[in-house]
Amino acid sequence: MNTENKQIILTADRPTGRLHLGHYVGSLKRRVELQNSGKFDQINIMIADDQALTDNADNPGKIRENIINVVLDYLSVGIDPALTTICVQSALPALHALTFYYLNLVTTARLSRNPTVKAEIQMRGFADEGLPAGFFTYPVSQAADITAFDATVVPVGEDQLPMLEQAREIVEKFNRIYGPTLVLPEAMIPENETQRRLPGVDGKAKMSKSLGNCIYLSDTPKTVKQQVNGKMFTDPQHLRIEDPGHIEGNVVFTYLDALSTKEHFERYLPEYADLEEMKDHYRRGGLGDGKCKKFLIQVLDEILDPIRTERAKWEKDIDSVYDILAEGTAKAREVTNATLARVEKAMRIDYFADRSVVKEWEELLKKTNL
Ligand code: TRP
Repeated sequence: MNTENKQIILTADRPTGRLHLGHYVGSLKRRVELQNSGKFDQINIMIADDQALTDNADNPGKIRENIINVVLDYLSVGIDPALTTICVQSALPALHALTFYYLNLVTTARLSRNPTVKAEIQMRGFADEGLPAGFFTYPVSQAADITAFDATVVPVGEDQLPMLEQAREIVEKFNRIYGPTLVLPEAMIPENETQRRLPGVDGKAKMSKSLGNCIYLSDTPKTVKQQVNGKMFTDPQHLRIEDPGHIEGNVVFTYLDALSTKEHFERYLPEYADLEEMKDHYRRGGLGDGKCKKFLIQVLDEILDPIRTERAKWEKDIDSVYDILAEGTAKAREVTNATLARVEKAMRIDYFADRSVVKEWEELLKKTNL
């Protein structure tokens, strides 16, 4: 067991699309900060391709394509393979074995109550079409992910809290039945409201590929400009520049809340000391949406430019990206195999770890044959 009180992080993403600004604000930025803080003994990022297959079984090509997209997004935002282990879930067979054992520790009634899975079942239409058993049980597989790495800290969005709760229940039940074996993980959720959920450019609650309301980390300056100028929701009552405007629900300001700094104001909009001053002017009237959008585009490009440059560099060297994934996955395989060995030992199903069971069986037979 993780007896040395090591601080171990596991985070993961389903590779179903390129990562967007919502991922950046809600999780990637913080992962890079955690990585660079030097406070953790081990940091793992897993590309959860198996979990992605639980609702994409008919489209493995989509997952295969997006593994490279997601790993390029990681590398371009500053995830450093020297500090963070990047690995691929499907190549970690210990996770599959752990899932199979943990499934016995969870009731179908408990799984049915998981609010995130419930909502996802509705969203995906599984209530009518039929619910894949693998999808229904993915919280158990996620508990396997977390425990296999002995993760103590799991940085996730709020929607993942039910997964963490379920993982903790599995850990407690396992340890109760088989003795102290698994590490109890803690969730780490985004600190403030703006990080929690960046809306789509159209103001819908979430950025989603199918709604076309995303700004991707790999978008060109031209696309970003189009998304902001062409689609970004502001204040429908703010018709003329002189009209007083509303900040609440105004996506331009939601994005500025999440992304803009004092330095951005100094560089691009020095007539305001900070965002509060800009908001005051907007509320009073006299500040046009065009000017606000122009500033937001400058802020976005300042953030995205270095990411684009890094991505372009890595895109020219996919061989190295492959090596990073292969090495990270090999390392993760060792870690997760060690946990599986510990689990099999605790469950007393470690028959082939050594030959000690031969003696045990011989003695048993001697006794019963007396
Ligand atoms: N379910 C997570 C998501 O959709 C992805 C994930 C899979 C995960 N395994 C994990 C997150 C383990 C944290 C830890 O975002």
